[in-house]
Amino acid sequence: MFKVAVIGASGLLGRALVNELAQQTRWHVVATAFSRPGPDTVALDIRDAQAVDQFVEREAPQALVIAAAERRPDVCEHDPALARALNVDAVRTLAAAARRRGAWTLSISTDYVFDGAHPPYRHDSAPAPLNAYGRSKLEGERALTEATDLGCVLRLPLLYGPIVNWAESAVTSLVPAIAGSASLNGKTAVMDAWAIRYPTFTPDVALVIRQMLERHARGETIRGIVQWSGDEPMTKYEIAVRLAEALRLDAHLRPQSTPADATPRPHNCHLASRQLEALGIGRRTPFDTAIRQVLAAFPWQGGTDA
Ligand SMILES: NC(=O)c1ccc[n+]([C@@H]2O[C@H](COP(=O)([O-])OP(=O)(O)OC[C@H]3O[C@@H](n4cnc5c(N)ncnc54)[C@H](OP(=O)(O)O)[C@@H]3O)[C@@H](O)[C@H]2O)c1
Repeated sequence: MFKVAVIGASGLLGRALVNELAQQTRWHVVATAFSRPGPDTVALDIRDAQAVDQFVEREAPQALVIAAAERRPDVCEHDPALARALNVDAVRTLAAAARRRGAWTLSISTDYVFDGAHPPYRHDSAPAPLNAYGRSKLEGERALTEATDLGCVLRLPLLYGPIVNWAESAVTSLVPAIAGSASLNGKTAVMDAWAIRYPTFTPDVALVIRQMLERHARGETIRGIVQWSGDEPMTKYEIAVRLAEALRLDAHLRPQSTPADATPRPHNCHLASRQLEALGIGRRTPFDTAIRQVLAAFPWQGGTDA
């Protein structure tokens, strides 16, 4: 058995990873959560350095995956101290504790470390984040590298996958407005048609992480920075059109061709995934297939944002 600590197992990506590892008996998973601890998770506030050290000492994982973060750009903009505590300081504490035990740390980062002006971005392209979220995640990447020589950063773009509420992903968060526009007397939903995103399915990312863990377990540890991305470019407007098709809704959508977000966002941060592809790692489920799986498992009931 290979012991893996999944930090942030209650989140969108963490759940997909725990689910992926549960398919094989070789993995012994220790899962942590914060405000949503379940029967099989350890409650851990990663801002509490002493609790983090005790957790890592007690559990002695061979690898630790950090999927806990503050990932909402607007929250990071308004609460930079929280963003720093979770996205920078906690990464340093976790990685240092793991290093002391000789464990490999995989920390998740974002395409928002780039400014989006010159895609595609390689792992060694110059980062230039436009907002507080991107800045905190870039600092988190650096904190990981400083804290351990046995670590790896995996940068990812916009994620979607099995959800427990619509707001969990910036993809599914469009559903209530799409459905509202299709209702009787519904208002036209205006959707951003400026920023180009590469929606990436969390079960595919979970497979990537499992394959990276397998390499570490057989002594072929991946270090440094790697990237993984879906390969279908889409604006939010285009995502909304596909969601409406999948939901069979006669939605009234209008593209907005200039950025309207309060928080500055990059135009196109396409991440090159060549390093992992060259290792034979990865899978890309087509968006239309994956989103139908997500919607089938969490049906739109109409009216309520459960
Ligand atoms: N979602 C995206 O589109 C996206 C895109 C690119 C990169 N990423 C990166 O991917 C990673 C996973 O993101 P996600 O979307 O899965 O995030 P998420 O759904 O928001 O989950 C966040 C996780 O962090 C945990 N957490 C929050 N505060 C904590 C604390 N004080 N102590 C311990 N755990 C805490 C949450 O636990 P509770 O829920 O139990 O409170 C939850 O498990 C993050 O590094 C994010 O930056 C995400």
